[in-house]
Amino acid sequence: MDFNIAVLPGDGIGPEVIAESVKLLEAIGKNYNHRFQLHNGVVGGVAIDNLGVALPKETMEMCQKCDAVLFGAVGGPKWDNPKAKVQATDGILELRKGLSLFANLRPVKVTPSLINSTPLKPNIVKDVDLLVVRELTGGLYFGQPKKQWHTSSGRQAVDTMTYSEQEIERIVRMGFELARNRFKKLASVDKANVLESSRLWRQIVTEISSSYPDVELNHVFIDACTMQLIQRPGEFDVIVTSNMFGDILTDEASVLAGSMGMLPSASLAGLPSGKTFGLYEPIHGTAPDIEGKNIANPIATILSTAMMLRYSFNLITEAKAVEDAIETTLEEGYRTPDIWTEGDVKVGTEEMGSLVIQKLKY
Ligand code: IPM
Ligand code: MG
Repeated sequence: MDFNIAVLPGDGIGPEVIAESVKLLEAIGKNYNHRFQLHNGVVGGVAIDNLGVALPKETMEMCQKCDAVLFGAVGGPKWDNPKAKVQATDGILELRKGLSLFANLRPVKVTPSLINSTPLKPNIVKDVDLLVVRELTGGLYFGQPKKQWHTSSGRQAVDTMTYSEQEIERIVRMGFELARNRFKKLASVDKANVLESSRLWRQIVTEISSSYPDVELNHVFIDACTMQLIQRPGEFDVIVTSNMFGDILTDEASVLAGSMGMLPSASLAGLPSGKTFGLYEPIHGTAPDIEGKNIANPIATILSTAMMLRYSFNLITEAKAVEDAIETTLEEGYRTPDIWTEGDVKVGTEEMGSLVIQKLKY
């Protein structure tokens, strides 16, 4: 089959990890007889340097024409000037909003061979298999007003946390649907003891829950959730939450998996159905401190590519083959520095990418 993929490597380690996914797609295409047509686009800091905007119109239009987007990362110290008119991170935010990618799926699973790579005790992380469903196009990230200004007594700034009933309903339904097909537990995370938008969130979750009697629902406050996620992460199944809380929780959750370099994500415009349009990206960001050193872990990006094969292209066998190949590579002791422990074989970005391709079973 033919698939068109927009490839946006972005900044920092983005191009290095994306290169490994491109290698992988070539191998999968050849061996399973698919034609992955890759279309390169610029976004983030590189786009600002060359074109003065974080998301050029051409990049957006190309994404709209493709079946899926493979995304690296954007941002870095070079573009961190808070006074600048455009921020490199606007590139990804505008893509999410412009492509209506309201649902961000971030699965966190502990690979048995990495159980010693986390700072937590093995018995705490051993059963972790959770999925964070983060609302991605609303809330504090996009609410208006959002600005800085001068007053007679000094500077002031505002961000707005706003959610409509429709925005809450579609992400919460997605959470319930996904929970129904997993372990039938849903934790809805909010701050309803303080925030009005969270009170509406909680009301809507409670209303919708009557359509899902088979799913066990828990309302959890965000502060308590950060604690429980470290104390007993194995008890979570699906977590549904707002944009800002989901951003924070998923960085925390990445520690459970051993490294941020292990966590993939899918940002979808609808339920993962095998044809859903989506943008696939590692959650780790640009990691400027390790850029250009060939030490970044490409597994998060490769796992994101597997999610693309599954959710947007319905290539379940191929997706599974990629996940199994990663598992085998790790079982054999190969590790990038972020997950390396005494006795493992240390490998670089390119070697890790090649190893995963080598271990693919057709
Ligand atoms: C993420 C990142 C982004 C976010 C940044 C780069 C804008 O932290 O995908 O989690 O805050 O959503
Ligand atoms: Mg984040």
